[in-house]
Amino acid sequence: MTQAAPATSGIRVRPATALDSAEIADVYLESFHATYAFPLAHTDDEVRSWIRDGLVAARRAWVAVDVDGAIVGLMALAPGDLEQLYVRPDRLGQGIGRQLLEVAKARSRSGLTLFTFQVNDRARRFYERNGFVADWFGDGSANEERQPDVRYVWPS
Ligand SMILES: CC(C)(COP(=O)(O)OP(=O)(O)OC[C@H]1O[C@@H](n2cnc3c(N)ncnc32)[C@H](O)[C@@H]1OP(=O)(O)O)[C@@H](O)C(=O)NCCC(=O)NCCS
Repeated sequence: MTQAAPATSGIRVRPATALDSAEIADVYLESFHATYAFPLAHTDDEVRSWIRDGLVAARRAWVAVDVDGAIVGLMALAPGDLEQLYVRPDRLGQGIGRQLLEVAKARSRSGLTLFTFQVNDRARRFYERNGFVADWFGDGSANEERQPDVRYVWPS
């Protein structure tokens, strides 16, 4: 029997280029504000500069791109560290996060570490379903937003 194509068919994950920087920042800011009730520690302009210079120019940024070219997800990946993972709010639950995570895992054979905020139940369930195990809990003193955080490792 032929199975229906998953909602993610046509989504491609690729390294980000300089031309993507502004759209990556749009997705990041939209996703952060849709996810958390607390503010970012930096202004939108500071976030845009950090994404352009700190992530994209440093070749740490990856994007999930739809067939029409729109960026629907992003991640920042350094050796052993999944630094950022954000899916556009109108595209949650379609396997895009999983597709980005598979690329991160394939490029990080010796394992991955990531941090998220404790309050982010959806992300925590997502990471736990995908093999990550929480191994450290912080009181917020280690991040700029000063929110309780949790570290996950894969494989545990
Ligand atoms: C956490 C996050 C990255 C997960 O990404 P996502 O794309 O929503 O996750 P997925 O769709 O891959 O998986 C979530 C669930 O969606 C459903 N799903 C998966 N593939 C699907 C598909 N093709 N069609 C419909 N639903 C699907 C499944 O229920 C899946 O659960 P499973 O892993 O048990 O199969 C995303 O929710 C997000 O960006 N959240 C806001 C920002 C955030 O919290 N980032 C993390 C900060 S550390």
